[in-house]
Amino acid sequence: MHYLFRFGQPFETGALLEKPEIESGEKLKDKADLHFDEKLNKWILRFDLKDTDVVYGLGEAMRGINKRGWEYISDNLDDWSITEDRRNLYGSHNFLILQSDSSIGLFIDTPEKVRFDISYTRQDEMIIEFGLDTDVLLLEGKDPQEIAMEFRSLIGQSWIPPLFAFGFGQSRWEYATKADFEEIARLYDELDLPLDMIYMDIDYMDRYKDFTFSKEFSDFEKFVEDFKKKKLHLIPIIDAGVKKEDGYAVYEEGVKNNYFVKMPDGKTDFVGAVWPGYALFPDFFNPEAARWFGNQYKVLTDAGIDGFWNDMNEPALFYSQPGMDELRDWLKDYVKKGPEAYEMFALENHVGAIKNSREDYRLMHHQVDGKWISHEKLHNLYGMKMTDAAAEAFKDLRPGLRTLMFSRSSYIGMHRNAGIWTGDNSSWWSHILLILHQLPALSMCGFLYSGCDLGGFGKDTTRDLSIRFMQLGVFTPLMRNHSASGTRRQEPYQFEHPEDFRHLLFCRYRLIPWLYSEYLKASVNNTMLFSPLSFIWKDDEFAREVEDQLMIGDEMMITPVYTQNAKGRMVWLPESMRKITMKPDGTILQEMMDAGHHYIAYPENELIFFLRKDAILPLAAPALRTADIDFDHLELIGAPKGTYTLWMDDGQSIDASVTKRVLVR
Ligand code: GLC
Repeated sequence: MHYLFRFGQPFETGALLEKPEIESGEKLKDKADLHFDEKLNKWILRFDLKDTDVVYGLGEAMRGINKRGWEYISDNLDDWSITEDRRNLYGSHNFLILQSDSSIGLFIDTPEKVRFDISYTRQDEMIIEFGLDTDVLLLEGKDPQEIAMEFRSLIGQSWIPPLFAFGFGQSRWEYATKADFEEIARLYDELDLPLDMIYMDIDYMDRYKDFTFSKEFSDFEKFVEDFKKKKLHLIPIIDAGVKKEDGYAVYEEGVKNNYFVKMPDGKTDFVGAVWPGYALFPDFFNPEAARWFGNQYKVLTDAGIDGFWNDMNEPALFYSQPGMDELRDWLKDYVKKGPEAYEMFALENHVGAIKNSREDYRLMHHQVDGKWISHEKLHNLYGMKMTDAAAEAFKDLRPGLRTLMFSRSSYIGMHRNAGIWTGDNSSWWSHILLILHQLPALSMCGFLYSGCDLGGFGKDTTRDLSIRFMQLGVFTPLMRNHSASGTRRQEPYQFEHPEDFRHLLFCRYRLIPWLYSEYLKASVNNTMLFSPLSFIWKDDEFAREVEDQLMIGDEMMITPVYTQNAKGRMVWLPESMRKITMKPDGTILQEMMDAGHHYIAYPENELIFFLRKDAILPLAAPALRTADIDFDHLELIGAPKGTYTLWMDDGQSIDASVTKRVLVR
């Protein structure tokens, strides 16, 4: 059952494909404790929480699988210090499930800020604070799994990427020359390391100008072709900001046609600084501007590119022109004061506040149905709008074909067109656990194609951390090693015993037929790809407490190691399960284990996971490219007898029909 309550006149986000009958917001009072706070000028939705209640959801967010114990704010933000105290990240996914005696789901559909106080102010309370113009979807169901499925059916089917996107990708913000890219391909091949994608960060462009190439890549098409011959896909980045530079066609065309975000006067272009220096921001809310920007991808698709990552689309603002002018004046006064009067914190705060400033978001204006609306009112939709604009354009640029695309910033609805990566994580052990916590929450919100920067983006990695990241990454649809410029290099061959990385990559490629099949099932049936254990073992109270194990589909459980120097970890088996160990020599050990707690040794050169006792798992022979995986000859492991229904399609066309093959053991 679900109900949609409308407050004020919400902006149509497009998140819900199926719009239930709309009831007035006041009616929500019949279902929950709701009041209007005059001082805050916000609606407050309040729930009592029992000790045993669990709150799941919020997609890309901080903290645990159970969201209790923190405050979360939907306010898409570029900040690459993803510490435990953060309240907002790059995406806003305002869907949660409260599991109590019965379960309810809530989706707060608004592009504006929403505050979720989940046992933060008071342990026994959940408070959701939202603005005057908001749709609230309430779902009632028997259990969280059922509610998640119902929500997914309302937001529409999750995007299906091309098959190659399930291969491995190597990335680093520093690869700038042809030789850099050629070296990766060469070293991967020399070391027999499986690879499908090499990512091109901003240095392929001419001074960070979208849809241009540096001199190095003046014959880009030929360059792409050479990689294609090696069955490798080059995946360039596209940033939201368009460099302000006379003579740059994209800039000039956008200015001429009023395609960029404006100042409040509706005439002057808003100017903010990002990687290219001063830049203008396409107004994706203006359909004509969105169409125009989407069509710019043509330079790349014409050159044979079939995948993209959209970045800086919160949008990130290092500072704005008005903000910098104001700071300059302030600093002049500050310096005049002399050392005795310097206030260190004032200086720090004033300079720091120039980044991603609210004031700037207030200044930015979009053209919506002929009216000017402040960006602040629409903020959380901007990244989705950029990505949707590209997806729309691909229909003409690559007719009938799927294009790999994922975005940093997102809102629910974008899951129908693209995936996400979880932004600038760090080479920290806690960030292995963070992605593990985010995956089931992302599944609830439809973002099935997702993953984090394996090895960690910021800071210096270590070999063991990279390996442990990979042992989890083997199971994430997006499996990419990416790192920041200036950090320790982290390609597999930078470390001793690259064969351990090779083994994990071979395991991934062996699992691709299964992973792809599970992905298709989750997308078509609106089911969870990753779930908390409690979604499956619904009546088991301990299952609600498990924060470091996940189910993939209905039958596989993963138990990654996330602490340094650990040689293994404690694992809880909710029932008797089969432990699968993929050894480096290619052998596979299968061992039934009893329900309960076990210490499981987990060496760095093995892949370990668990299957339910009747489950059958298909494995392909190891391959170096997804295109070389032999889907026709799959080895079946797991239960001595049983079947697995393998879902498959052609892996590339949009309307591909799914074939279902029953594999019998
Ligand atoms: C942002 C992205 C990161 C990228 C960098 C340079 O920080 O999140 O992935 O490498 O910009 O483009």
